[in-house]
Formats: sequence, C-alpha cells, structure tokens
Amino acid sequence: MATVDGFRLDGMLLGVATAATQIEGGDVASNWTDWAARPGTIKDASTPARATDHWRRWREDTELMASLGVQVYRMSVEWARLEPRPGQWDDAAFGRYREELELLRDKGVRPLVTLHHFSHPLWFERDGGWLAPSALWTWERFVGEVVTRLGDLVTEWVTVNEPNVYVTGAHVFGDFPPGHRTLREGLRVYSVLAAAHIRAYRLIHALQPSRDTMVGVAHHLRPFRPGNPRNPWHRALTPAMRHLFQGAIVRAMTTGEFTRPLRRPDGIPAQSPGSGSGRYADFFGLNYYSRTTVTRFDDGTPVGVPVNDLGWEVYAAGLAETARWAWETYGLPVWVTENGTCDAADAFRSRYVWEHLEALAGVRAHGVPVDRYYHWCFVDNWEWNEGEGPRFGLVALDYETQERTVRDSGRLFAEMIREGGGTPAMHATYVAGQAYPVSDVEGHHR
Ligand code: BGC
Repeated sequence: MATVDGFRLDGMLLGVATAATQIEGGDVASNWTDWAARPGTIKDASTPARATDHWRRWREDTELMASLGVQVYRMSVEWARLEPRPGQWDDAAFGRYREELELLRDKGVRPLVTLHHFSHPLWFERDGGWLAPSALWTWERFVGEVVTRLGDLVTEWVTVNEPNVYVTGAHVFGDFPPGHRTLREGLRVYSVLAAAHIRAYRLIHALQPSRDTMVGVAHHLRPFRPGNPRNPWHRALTPAMRHLFQGAIVRAMTTGEFTRPLRRPDGIPAQSPGSGSGRYADFFGLNYYSRTTVTRFDDGTPVGVPVNDLGWEVYAAGLAETARWAWETYGLPVWVTENGTCDAADAFRSRYVWEHLEALAGVRAHGVPVDRYYHWCFVDNWEWNEGEGPRFGLVALDYETQERTVRDSGRLFAEMIREGGGTPAMHATYVAGQAYPVSDVEGHHR
C-alpha cells in the first residue's frame, strides 16, 4: 500500500464553531422562531425550540469540547434573548453567557463571538429589519451593550456571519425570513450590512482599544467555474455571479469601497482604491464548504463529482484557493471561521477533515498566514430550513434523548489538535477506508 505523508499545522489554532439559534433551544422571540412556525418553511417541520438544548447543557458541552482539546471556539449570542424588547436588556441572559464564557476561559478555550448569525429579534424584523431607517442605530446600541457587558471576557468578534448567504436567502431567493424575493432589495440590504459591519468595527475598537481586539466578518466564499467552458453564456455568467455573491460585498466590508451594483450608504468613508489591505477588518474570516458550477443563476453541481449528504460538491482545493485569494487581495491573516460537511454516517467526514486541513498546510507552506481553523460544527445542530435532518457534527446528537456521542471524525480532529497536524498513522486509522458518494444527477440548489 502506498504510504501517505503527514502534514504540520504548527502555530495554527484549531477549534469548532456553532451559532446560537442552531444549538440553544428554548422559546425565543426571534425571526427564525417566527419563520419556523409557518407551515412549509422547514423541511421536517422542526423548530429551533429543541435544537441541542445548549442553553441548559452548556456546562456539559463545554466540558466535552475541552476534553477534545479544542483551543478556540466560535459561538454567537442570540440578540433576541439579550434585548427582548427594544432597549431593554435581559440581565439573566447576559449572566448566562458570562458563565459560559468564564468556563471557557477556565478551560483555556479562547472564544470568538459572532454578533449576527442569521437571527435577530422579531421586533427588529417587524420594524422593517435591516431596511428600517433606524436599523443601524438599533444595531449599534446592541453591539455597544454586548461589548460593554462581555468585553472583559471576549476580545475577538465576528460582526456579521455570511452576509451573502443571509442576503440571498432572506431577500433574493426568499428561503430565509423574511422570505422576500427581490434582487433590488437584496442589493440594498447588502449595503446596509456593510455599513453595519463598518460601524460595529469602529465601535468595538473604540470600546476595546487594546491590541488584542480582533474584529472581522465571516465571509462565505466559493470557487465559481463555468459548467461548460466553451459555452459563452456560462463563461459570462460565472464572473458576474462571483462578483454579485462575494466580490462586491467582501470589498465593501473590508475596505469601505463600494463597487457596482452596491451603493455607498451615507457616512461610510472609503479607503483609497487599490491599496490592497483591509481597513475595516483585522482578520479575514472565511467560511468554506463547496464549489459552484455555473450553468444558470443558481448553485449548480455537475454529475460525477464527490458530494456530501446534501449534494454539495466536496472540493478541498477550493479552500486553498479561496484562502490564497483572501490573503493576496486583502493582506489579512486568514481565519477559517467555518468548514465542515454533512455526513450522517460519518462515512467520509474524516477524509474531508484530513483533505481540507492538508490543503491549508499546503498554502501555509507558501506563505499564506492561515492562523485559525474552526470546524463546523461541534454537536449536530438545527440546520435552518433543512431542520434536524442534516448531520454536520464531530459529535452525534440523539435529539430525543439529547445524548451526545463523539464520532470517529471527532476523535481524529482531537488527535490532530494534540499532534499539531496529520500523521500517517492517523490516516491509516481514520481516513484510508473512506470514500465520498459521487453525484449521479445534476444538482441545482436554490
Ligand atoms: C452557516 C451555518 C450553517 C452551515 C452549513 C453556513 O452557511 O453559517 O449556520 O449551518 O453553513 O449549512
């Protein structure tokens, strides 16, 4: 049998990522609770009320995380819990997050806290959401309160998670709340979110003027390639989609430079074009899952490629490609703020983890500073419109009993953290026998 080389990840911090709505459970007056209550929105008709019950099981989860040797943990706070009514703060909810953050600190796990991960209070949504004239002011009040109250325990922040996935879901394809379908509106929300990030960036630095303060966005990036490179329509649509989905919003949020079709909102100064480094970000947060093959205005997957349970192409080289692009374009250290796959049987997740981390080791060897990696996700969790079905966890969840069971891929990840890389022995134990399913029909997501 051919021997496999290992790889080193020296100096890179490894951990896991979650989002409040997907794990906490409970009766929370958020846009997603409201959305999930409407018939036909969630594939299995589940709601975020159950999830992983992390709001109550946070101690157990934190202990388990620490037992895997996790060094860094990306989590989010649920705005609807902290500010149940406009301008009214829930001290008990803040207290509960403080307890969790204190335990993380005691266990030596460094938190990275996301302020907006697809969810916000229902009252914010009903006021017009991000399109309300008061949206940015309301958002800044929330950001200020969180940073003031939790800032002694948190110095690393993600302002907004995946503005492109949020905007296309909520305003263009209509499969996220509020379920609107207008590109024009989506473009407006893009600009508002860019302004929201920039204002939060400045506010957090004003409130935490320490050199340790790190603020960024978790951008969802994917390679786009034409379905048929000889088809002029595919060839023209590919860069247009790349720009609309990620090029323009990433530029606006990182540098304050708004390129068409985005419009600069009032009060946001631009960086001089072309200076090549971020001004409104201290790291480049990169969420990476898959690649898009362009034949029309959707997320396509061809026949004959490796795919996960949801039919998303598995393409590890794309993580190296997007990380390199982020570094070369913006000159910021890259933090992989999410990466993972949907695999209920844990039949190929270890291979996925191996190949994606190996790809990062490769670009790091060429000078791209990829300093962090947060695996998505820790325990199987509520997957938005897909409900409880999809399994992304390094740890399996039985929703009925809430029992958590570490998967083999979780054990591999823990070994990789301990060893600071992948070894041939790990490959032989966890990866060698694994293979991906192959797509047998053309996939069109959304
Ligand atoms: C989101 C997560 C989600 C994951 C898998 C990302 O788009 O940030 O919340 O669970 O992908 O779909």
